[in-house]
Amino acid sequence: MELFDAIKNRRSRRKYLPDPIPDEDIEKLILSATSAPSGCNSQCWRFIAVKSPEKIEALSQAVEAGARKFYGRINDEQFLSNRIRHMTFFKKAPLVILVFMTEMPYYDSRVTEYYASLGYDKNEMLSRLGNPDILSIGAAVENLLLTAEEMGLGACWMNDPIIARDEVEKLFNVPNGHRLMSVIPVGKPAYSPREKAMKELSEVFEII
Ligand SMILES: Cc1cc2nc3c(=O)[nH]c(=O)nc-3n(C[C@H](O)[C@H](O)[C@H](O)COP(=O)(O)O)c2cc1C
Repeated sequence: MELFDAIKNRRSRRKYLPDPIPDEDIEKLILSATSAPSGCNSQCWRFIAVKSPEKIEALSQAVEAGARKFYGRINDEQFLSNRIRHMTFFKKAPLVILVFMTEMPYYDSRVTEYYASLGYDKNEMLSRLGNPDILSIGAAVENLLLTAEEMGLGACWMNDPIIARDEVEKLFNVPNGHRLMSVIPVGKPAYSPREKAMKELSEVFEII
C-alpha cells in the first residue's frame, strides 16, 4: 500500500473480529511507533501490548472504576453507563496497546538552567517549548495507526480511558514517571466506517 493511501484510508475502527494478532505483527506495530521522531530524540515512550483476555477485562474494569470515581458527583446511572460503554469498547478487541510517556530529558543543560533561573519548573519549560514530549507520543501513535492500516488492521486512538490513569497504572504496575497517554485497541476490522465530513483545505490552510 502506498503511504498516502494508508493516510487517506485510515479511520478509527471500534469493532473488531476476535482473530488474535500474531506477536510478529504486534512487534511491527510497536517498531513503527518507536521509529517516530521525538523531541531531543528522547524516545520518551513505552508500550504495553495487552493480548491476555483476562488482562483486557481487568483493564476495562479499572477504567470503569476510575470513571465511576471521577463522575461520582453525577447522580445519573444512564449517563454514567453510556460514558463507560464508550470508554471501554476496547474490551472486545484481541489486542489493546497502552501508550505511556516517560521522562523527556532536555538535551541542552544551558537551556534548562536558563529556564530554571526564570522560575520555570520542568513542566512549565516543556509547555513553553510546545510540549515536545506530548507531541512525540502523538507522532508515535500516528505511525502505529498507519502501519495498522497498511497491515489491514483496524484501530482506534482512545483518550477517554485516561480518566482512570491511576487505576490503570496500578494494574500494570508501571514504574514511577510513566504516564498513561493513550489506549489503542487493535483488531481485524468488523465493519466499514461511514464517510467522514472533512473541512475544506481552504478552511485550514493557506499558501503565502
Ligand atoms: C488524541 C485523540 C483521542 C481520541 N480519543 C478517542 C476516544 O477516547 N474514544 C473514541 O472512540 N475515539 C477517540 N478518538 C478518535 C476520534 O474520535 C477520531 O479520530 C475522529 O472522530 C476522526 O475520525 P477518524 O479517526 O475515523 O478519521 C481520538 C482521537 C485522537 C486524535
